[in-house]
Amino acid sequence: MLELVPLTDGIGTEVRGIDVTGDIPDRDFERIVRAWTDTTILLFRGQRMTPEQHIAFTRRFGEVYTYTRSQFNHTDHPEILILSNLTRDGKPIGSAYSGRVWHSDGHYLTHPPIGSMLYALEVPPVGGDTWFGNMIAAYEALPQRVKDRIEDLKVIISRVQSRPYNYPDRPAPTAQEIAEWPDVTQPLVRVHEVSGRKALYAGGNVPWRIEGMPPEESAPLITFLQEFAVQPRFTYRHRWQPGDIILWDNRSAMHRATYYDHVAHRRLMHRTTLSAAQATAGAARS
Ligand code: OGA
Ligand code: MN
Repeated sequence: MLELVPLTDGIGTEVRGIDVTGDIPDRDFERIVRAWTDTTILLFRGQRMTPEQHIAFTRRFGEVYTYTRSQFNHTDHPEILILSNLTRDGKPIGSAYSGRVWHSDGHYLTHPPIGSMLYALEVPPVGGDTWFGNMIAAYEALPQRVKDRIEDLKVIISRVQSRPYNYPDRPAPTAQEIAEWPDVTQPLVRVHEVSGRKALYAGGNVPWRIEGMPPEESAPLITFLQEFAVQPRFTYRHRWQPGDIILWDNRSAMHRATYYDHVAHRRLMHRTTLSAAQATAGAARS
């Protein structure tokens, strides 16, 4: 029987009593979707999914987003992005270092993905945990005068600048990438399209700017919000076990990878991504 158990007071729900590859009745699925949008992340434990099953389960939540031009897509199933330190024929099969600052996925896009589903196949005995933070809870806890101050502000997000923070192992952006990656502007307070709740769009340790504000005013405000947002009361650190799945709501979560010894240990994770296009009817709240 389906059971929804809070992970912490501030974030997340563990979904128990279901096999994600089985038939999940619509009524149960609607409760799962509601827990996802209300509590920002879902954890499923002890699961076993083939790539096809992973993609099919993701599709129940919405349209699957495929990264184009990624060298780390699964060779047979490009919908799956591989995060791993493993190699095949001397070549990395996945992205080994991504996401080690607080971020949301595709924050540099005009229409960022609405969610990501990460599935653990092999995990190191120590390290490689993932942090998650609830940006709705963080927003709601802000003092009223800060809420009033930031209500209508917009942040300017530079992919060119955030790249070296997110991917320190990769070369600096090329001239072509710089030309193809215009800055995007997003509301600092984001209204969740399903629940209507407000979330901070605070993004990482990356030097974002506030539109129309001088840097000496913008930088401390951004830093304050970024630090406020990731206080322990809004966050959860996940110690992975093989068979764990976490689906985060990328509209209201930030997350952050942590280090592990990638010479001594193996880590293999499969990720699918939900595109910004309309969520399925099952995901929409009337
Ligand atoms: C991601 C990500 C963190 C991790 O998949 O988008 O940031 O711990 N992953 O692998
Ligand atoms: Mn990420």
